[in-house]
This record gives sequence, C-alpha cells and structure tokens, in this order.
Amino acid sequence: MGKLDGKVALITGAAGGIGRATSKLFIKEGAKGVVMGDIWDEMGEKTAIKLGPNAIYLHTDVSQESNIKAAIDLAVEKFGRLDVVFSNAGNPGPGGAIEDVPTDEFDKTVAIHLRAAFLCMKHSIPIMKKQGSGCFITTSSVAAFQHGMGTLPYSLSKAGIIQLTRIAAVELGIYGIRANAIAPGGIATGIFGQAFGISRNGAEKVAELMKGTLAEMQAIRRAGLPEDVANAALFLASDSSSFITGVTLKVDGGLLSGRIPQDPEESQERWLEMIQALDPEDQKIITERAQEGIKKIMEDLKYIKPEIREKIIKRMQRFAARRNET
Ligand SMILES: NC(=O)c1ccc[n+]([C@@H]2O[C@H](COP(=O)([O-])OP(=O)(O)OC[C@H]3O[C@@H](n4cnc5c(N)ncnc54)[C@H](O)[C@@H]3O)[C@@H](O)[C@H]2O)c1
Repeated sequence: MGKLDGKVALITGAAGGIGRATSKLFIKEGAKGVVMGDIWDEMGEKTAIKLGPNAIYLHTDVSQESNIKAAIDLAVEKFGRLDVVFSNAGNPGPGGAIEDVPTDEFDKTVAIHLRAAFLCMKHSIPIMKKQGSGCFITTSSVAAFQHGMGTLPYSLSKAGIIQLTRIAAVELGIYGIRANAIAPGGIATGIFGQAFGISRNGAEKVAELMKGTLAEMQAIRRAGLPEDVANAALFLASDSSSFITGVTLKVDGGLLSGRIPQDPEESQERWLEMIQALDPEDQKIITERAQEGIKKIMEDLKYIKPEIREKIIKRMQRFAARRNET
C-alpha cells in the first residue's frame, strides 16, 4: 500500500530537480494522478511519459493566472479530485544590491514565487472545500531566513510564502485543508546554473559539479538532493502529517543552525574547476557575469571605509594571482 493511494496532486516546477523527484515519488507511492506543470516542456513531457498514465504534463507558466487555473482544472477533469497542490516552481531571480535590481525583474520574480503560490491556493480552495479535505505544500527556502542565500526578490518572496502558508493554515483548518511550507537548503539542482544564466544542459551539469561545494556548507556533510525534499513533501502530503499545519519544515542538513566556515582558496579552486568542466559557451557566460560583478565592486570601492577597502583589495589581488597560476 502506498502513502498516497488514490490521491491527486498538482506539482509546479515539476520538470526541475525537486519537482521531478517529487512527481516520481508521488507516483511510486500510489498517487492516482499527478499533474506536472512547468515551462520546461521537453523534460516535463519526457518525465511524464516515463511515469505512465497517472502522470500528465501541462505547460504551465505560473506567472500566468490562466495557466495555473488550467492546471488545476486538468487535475479535476482527468482524475476527479485535487488533494495536494505543491507550488514549487521557481527561478533564482536577478542578483545585485537593492539599488541594482531592475524593477520589472523584481516583479517577475515575486510573480513566479509568491503570487503563484497565492494563485495556486486561490483557485484550488473552492475544490478542496467541497471535498472537505486538501493539502497545500509551498516551497520556501533558507533564503527566507538569512541574507546571502538568494537574490533580493527571491528571498523576499520566500519569506512571504511562509506567511502565506501560515495564514492559509489558520484560515482553512475548519474545512479540513492543511498548508505547510518546506524550506530547502543547498539542494543539487539546475537552479544554480540558471542563476549564472547558462543553458539547461549546462545547469544540469552544474548541479552535479556543485555537490562538492554544497557538501561543505552544513552540519550534514553531503549535498542536499532533490529526493530529500521529495521525501519531506511526501510526508506533508500524506495522512502521516494529518495534525501538522502552518509549519515550515527546514530540509537543510542543519544549514540554518550554523553555516560551516569555508576556506576561501579551496572554494575558489572548486569554482574554477567547475567552470572549466562546462561547455565553452557556458564558460563564457559565467566569466562575463563574474567580470560584471567585479566591475561593480571596483566602482563601489571608493565609497567603502578605507580600512575595509584595503582588505577587500588585498583579497581580490590574492584571488587574481591564484587564478593566473591555474
Ligand atoms: N535547489 C536549491 O538549493 C533550493 C533551495 C531552496 C529553495 N529551492 C526552491 O525549490 C524550488 C524548485 O527548484 P529546484 O531546486 O528544483 O530548481 P530547478 O531549476 O531544477 O527547478 C525549478 C523548475 O521551475 C521551473 N520554472 C521556472 N519558472 C517557471 C514558471 N514561470 N512557470 C513554471 N515553471 C517554472 C523551471 O523550468 C524548473 O523546471 C524552487 O522554488 C526553488 O526556489 C531550491
């Protein structure tokens, strides 16, 4: 007997690392239907075909309300009900300090994360109320809690998602509907490569290559895997968690309890090795991004307090010397 026998789920971001692993696990655990929504059609379709007739892929751009509504409707039309909605789609959003973030990119990132999680709830609640049961799972992040773990609009959205989930839990408990968030830590998926703006294939490679770096960051010395988050989602979707609502489950190997200090030279070496393992086109994109970042730091140096400026310059010179050696 599976933990999700007879249940129907919608998973967004289902073609990517965490969503794909969760779709697979939900089917393995007996889900009667999984609607897989994403904009990465090639991977989404391929995965759904592999998973068999209980999985259906639908192109679902979560920044579009009509797309979210269509995915919810498809679940009900094909499988007769909707038990679990896992709003998980995401992208890294634009990097940079507050003054540098383009306003339209800010809006787009909030739309993909926070607004989409809201819309997934808004359009599923009437169905779940009629059923007298339902379960929302949202993907937040460690970036909701600490600076330096994600871009500005990403971190803000992930923090907002936690409060949205808590509100939903309180508002919907009387209808038999639960809502919980998951806050993943460093999970080896394509999202890191996407942050560098490289190709999908390159991003999947980066997911593998990042494992060494991710393993060093937290108490549990291995990279987080999509399956770690999928297992958490399974628990929250199943009846095993029937008295749990409004929580944020951290799946971070202990990262938020204390980040392990890194040797900057080792980190740089790993970074260089990773870049060298990519295709030339992706290497070029990453190098150009890094150069833009360095240019911005150089421009801002004059505004930094002199004693701190000295330290930064020395560190950059050491890094540059090492890069020239390798
Ligand atoms: N990997 C990590 O370390 C980590 C940490 C914390 C939180 N998260 C969150 O986990 C979730 C899943 O990310 P992942 O790590 O599996 O990365 P991923 O890049 O492998 O998967 C994300 C998926 O979302 C899809 N997507 C992006 N924009 C979309 C849109 N507008 N509409 C529909 N789909 C869209 C992408 O195509 C991709 O398939 C995201 O919300 C991410 O923010 C990831």
